[in-house]
Amino acid sequence: MKRILGIESSCDETAAAIVDSGGALLSSVVASQVATHGKYGGVVPELASREHLRSIVPVVRGALEQARLTWSGIDAVAVTAGPGLVGSLLVGLTFAKAVCAVRGLPLIGVNHLDGHVHAVLLDARASGGQIELPAVALVASGGHTHLFEVSERMKYRLLGKTRDDAAGEAYDKVAKLLGFGYPGGPVLDLLAPYGEAAAVRLPFSKMKGNPLDFSFSGLKTAVLRWAPSRDLDGEIVARRALRRLHPHPSVEQWLEVTPQTTLDALAAFQQVVVEELLRRVEAAVAETAARSVIISGGVASNAGLRAAAHSGRLSCPAFFPPPRLSTDNAAMIAAAAIPRLERGEFDDLDLKARANLALA
Ligand code: KG4
Ligand code: ZN
Repeated sequence: MKRILGIESSCDETAAAIVDSGGALLSSVVASQVATHGKYGGVVPELASREHLRSIVPVVRGALEQARLTWSGIDAVAVTAGPGLVGSLLVGLTFAKAVCAVRGLPLIGVNHLDGHVHAVLLDARASGGQIELPAVALVASGGHTHLFEVSERMKYRLLGKTRDDAAGEAYDKVAKLLGFGYPGGPVLDLLAPYGEAAAVRLPFSKMKGNPLDFSFSGLKTAVLRWAPSRDLDGEIVARRALRRLHPHPSVEQWLEVTPQTTLDALAAFQQVVVEELLRRVEAAVAETAARSVIISGGVASNAGLRAAAHSGRLSCPAFFPPPRLSTDNAAMIAAAAIPRLERGEFDDLDLKARANLALA
């Protein structure tokens, strides 16, 4: 059995993990930068690179310690080569190359989106299950909203992607606007069930051209228009104060500072996002020979999306990653490298970081 060290630094998480070629997860360490970017309501690229530089060495060391291994127990290094923030990608990539040069290990550059899909495959493998291919895969996070067809040989064909904001970005922007802080997805998801979606009308996107493309900027603008028509200043101040006092407020604490009309808007927002995503997944399944649906990326943690995908409306089973593998991590990067290690497909040490690295 061979072991792969995975390294991920494409956005605001510095992560390292070790998996073996049988798909067993031996360790996974994630250093989140949420505390750094939280006060700005989104990821600040310069700060992200600096934090990666600070974290990369202890995070990798942590992954080795957690797996009770030394470098001699590692057979290959897998690292995210893109897409992502170039300054962030470079930290992980440079570290990986240095380790490979010094220890004579093969380097495997991984596409971050392929990693997100492998988070789901890794979990299925660990629980003894098998996801049948071809599949339709939706990767929805703070940076991406991409829909792919995945062939039996794990080849990707892009079916559609967002033309403006990513789904997670829409959550983050609406949360910022309403004083819920960053990241927005988890809080809005937590509060949406307390609202009445039908009480606030928010629009669906109108797409010209590829009907499997996504658009979330109109929805964000609609929430922006809804907000000034109410007097939200008081509640926004109260929510900001709550966040200053408690880094992770409970649902009861949030409900104390969030009136029913705002909860209704959150429910309506979540319903539209879930529908926008699932309708395209449904259409993609109908258009392809898909035998499974794979939903991954930070937004895959969304309880509303999970419930809707498991409600029986999809004609094939839907698979999600477990929560710890749905946001950025390095286990998924190492997992995506297993077939490459088996085929002996390695990268040269001049591998470049690419902000817009395409998968299909
Ligand atoms: O995959 P990820 O960790 O990083 C990127 O590659 O972007 O995804 C983070 C994104 C954030 O935009 C966050 O708001 C969103 O995923 N997110 C959620 C939920 N949990 C995280 N969005 C909706 N519902 C959630 N429960
Ligand atoms: Zn991601």
